[in-house]
Amino acid sequence: MVRGKKILLCVSGGIAVYKAAALTSKLVQSGAEVKVMMTESAQKFVTPLTFQALSRQDVYWDTFDEKDSSKIAHIDLADWADLVLVAPATANMIGKLANGIADDMISTTIMASTATVWIAPAMNVHMYDHPAVKKNINTLFDFGYRFVEPSEGYLACGYVGKGRLEEPERIIQLLDLHFSKKTNIETLLKGKKVVITAGPTREMVDPVRFFSNRSTGKMGFALAEAASELGAHVTLISGPSHETIPTGVEFISVNSAEEMYQQVHSVFKEADIVVKSAAVADYRPIEVFENKLKKKDGNLVIEFERTKDILMSLGELKEHQYLIGFAAETTNVEEYAKAKLEKKRADMIVSNNVKEEGSGFGTDTNRVLIVTKDGSINLPVLPKVEVSKEIFKEAINQMKRANQDERS
Ligand code: CTP
Repeated sequence: MVRGKKILLCVSGGIAVYKAAALTSKLVQSGAEVKVMMTESAQKFVTPLTFQALSRQDVYWDTFDEKDSSKIAHIDLADWADLVLVAPATANMIGKLANGIADDMISTTIMASTATVWIAPAMNVHMYDHPAVKKNINTLFDFGYRFVEPSEGYLACGYVGKGRLEEPERIIQLLDLHFSKKTNIETLLKGKKVVITAGPTREMVDPVRFFSNRSTGKMGFALAEAASELGAHVTLISGPSHETIPTGVEFISVNSAEEMYQQVHSVFKEADIVVKSAAVADYRPIEVFENKLKKKDGNLVIEFERTKDILMSLGELKEHQYLIGFAAETTNVEEYAKAKLEKKRADMIVSNNVKEEGSGFGTDTNRVLIVTKDGSINLPVLPKVEVSKEIFKEAINQMKRANQDERS
């Protein structure tokens, strides 16, 4: 599975650098295209020439040494990679990556890359156990970085314990698994019709004024992008949003909760999965004035009525459809999610605490809790498209389980 993949191997300085040479050789033999980047200290252990000969590619270590004047090397390498692998990853390199320090070619390139990053730590057992390293590893995990756990055994420093760079064969096995999962996931929603609602709704008071909320549509548009990438036919029904419509997605623009209700119901019968990520207004002004309201002395009182609960109405109608609702909470996230799951007859509620950092309105990331009848799954802070893929993975797992239960 690593065959044909572009792997940027980042080698930081520790005794395990010699293993990175073996790793380069094995990756190349497995058919991967490997480019190597080294820190200054890594070069104290093994020279770039070794990696150049094994990878049959230039080796990079100086951000300012531009080999080709038509390109900026670290950006070019960041864009080139299908996967970035830091092996061995020292405590120092892990610390830099976790804290946004970009002061050498590896840390700068990783910051500029959108490819999946795998980290294979190697260090002394006490360093690996140090709270600073643990904290940095957790931070990177929350960024969505993956880890090849170091193995236990005799360490070059004389200690026996956890901290040895995993064997090259095992690292390649893990990368193989990563790419094979990726290939499978690309067809996860093939043949499925997915309806997604996004953004806020606007409830008009008069021709120039409305009530709305802080939703930007980012989560719903990310869901549409992810569903489309996973092979689904996607209909995105959205309230006003500045987000770009993902390619290949059928788009329906709405304003009010009532319009959203009508549009969702018009496509519901044919849908396999419906995701209600829109922040639908719960109330709307009873009276919508035909002309602009002119100000007068004293207070203005506007009376509101409840809008239709779209998710609940779908819960009552649903046949084969898998229904996913969203809940933005500030307290008791799991408790409220479970209550909504039941009340709205949804199959999944994706809940988040909008007060938490990295979650909520207008952010590119989200930390969510997925609640289904089978239990709850806590996801780390991830980019919204990655959160979306995890949501669809769990939905498909549940749909498969339900089919099996029906047959048995
Ligand atoms: N929803 C809907 N129609 C509405 C209101 C909400 O379909 N009129 C959907 C949202 O798209 C979301 C879920 O219901 O999937 C949110 O549940 P809701 O109970 O409305 O959340 P809150 O508005 O946060 O409600 P509460 O005040 O009860 O916390």
